Amino acid sequence: MVVSLCNPCSRYGDALKPRIGDEPVDHASQSQMVTRSGRHNLVVRPADAGDDRLLFDWVNRPDSLAYMLKTEGAVAWADHQRWFDARLRDDDSAIWIGELDQRPAGQVRLQRSTRGLVVAIYVDPGSRRRGVASGLLRHADAQAAIR
Ligand SMILES: CC(C)(COP(=O)(O)OP(=O)(O)OC[C@H]1O[C@@H](n2cnc3c(N)ncnc32)[C@H](O)[C@@H]1OP(=O)(O)O)[C@@H](O)C(=O)NCCC(=O)NCCS
Repeated sequence: MVVSLCNPCSRYGDALKPRIGDEPVDHASQSQMVTRSGRHNLVVRPADAGDDRLLFDWVNRPDSLAYMLKTEGAVAWADHQRWFDARLRDDDSAIWIGELDQRPAGQVRLQRSTRGLVVAIYVDPGSRRRGVASGLLRHADAQAAIR
């Protein structure tokens, strides 16, 4: 089974020309959000090997699988491990984790392809409508611009 991008519903425009391969500058970012449910702190950091289980859990959620282009059905653990390990070593790929109030809340991935930069994003249902996706995209946008 091939783990693939979710539907590239949100593709960055030509304005973003990341020079992936240059020395990466990948700092965590932090932002404060005030929503109907109160004040929230969002930290966005690069994904690392310790996020394998978290991303495995998210990728197999029905509302995540629904957006996969090539993957049919649930992703097996061994396939996920192979895929994630390759992404961490892939200069054309970058994954960030958003932590809302110190709990994992969502992920965003940029993948450079022949079609340009493709965005895949997922926010945990319990953390939605609090600006997590917006914060993740802002971070990815800023990182893409300096790579
Ligand atoms: C789509 C998704 C990433 C949004 O995450 P989120 O953290 O809830 O988004 P935000 O809180 O940053 O929302 C920003 C704005 O997007 C819009 N938005 C978000 N979810 C929406 C929804 N379900 N319906 C309509 N508009 C929505 C709203 O304008 C929202 O602003 P508001 O809350 O002030 O009205 C999340 O619902 C998700 O992971 N869904 C399943 C996977 C998916 O659909 N991925 C996208 C395809 S690749």
